[in-house]
Amino acid sequence: MSIRAWFSTFIYCEPLQKTGLARLNDELAGECHLIRDHDAAGRRWSAKNYPGGFTSYASLARLHKVSSTFAALEKKITAHVRRFTRQLDMNLRGRDIFMTDCWVNIMPERTAHGLHLHPLSFISGTYYVRTPRGCPGLKFEDPRLDRFMAAPPRRTDAHPANRQHVTYPAEAGTVILFESWLRHEVAANPTTGERISISFNYNWS
Ligand code: NI
Repeated sequence: MSIRAWFSTFIYCEPLQKTGLARLNDELAGECHLIRDHDAAGRRWSAKNYPGGFTSYASLARLHKVSSTFAALEKKITAHVRRFTRQLDMNLRGRDIFMTDCWVNIMPERTAHGLHLHPLSFISGTYYVRTPRGCPGLKFEDPRLDRFMAAPPRRTDAHPANRQHVTYPAEAGTVILFESWLRHEVAANPTTGERISISFNYNWS
């Protein structure tokens, strides 16, 4: 049959580095907790907008500019983002890409993160610091979902490329990248452990 796939949506998922992840994640988790302890504005914002959890999204969203730990993380993530943009055939010759935002998310039991996308950037992603066994993954939605109109639902055993949602497991030490327009969410954390992640946006000029 002469049917080919077009207009693909790519999601990148790789370990941040080959070795030393446990030590790095201990250091990052410690710093994430310090940020939560010191960021009163973030705690107030989270109480209203991120029930049960903590995010520095609205208060300290440029952590790579204020912390040497996060600046080192930025360097490593940028290498992954460059690789992803090459895979996407983006023409960035003579251009630069840079991290614009970087913030912490701490999700204790029952905290969820509703469906959203990341405005004002072109590549976004998350790095996982603490992922207790059974904690929720990152669920992506088919970006064409609002255009399907009269299309029948997909079979439960549909080919992966034809499914309307995909969930990437959250695994400490892993970086997930996607184009910023791709909507995603995180279900409520059913475990008693804290799920800690660091999210970020990239732009280019
Ligand atoms: Ni997000």
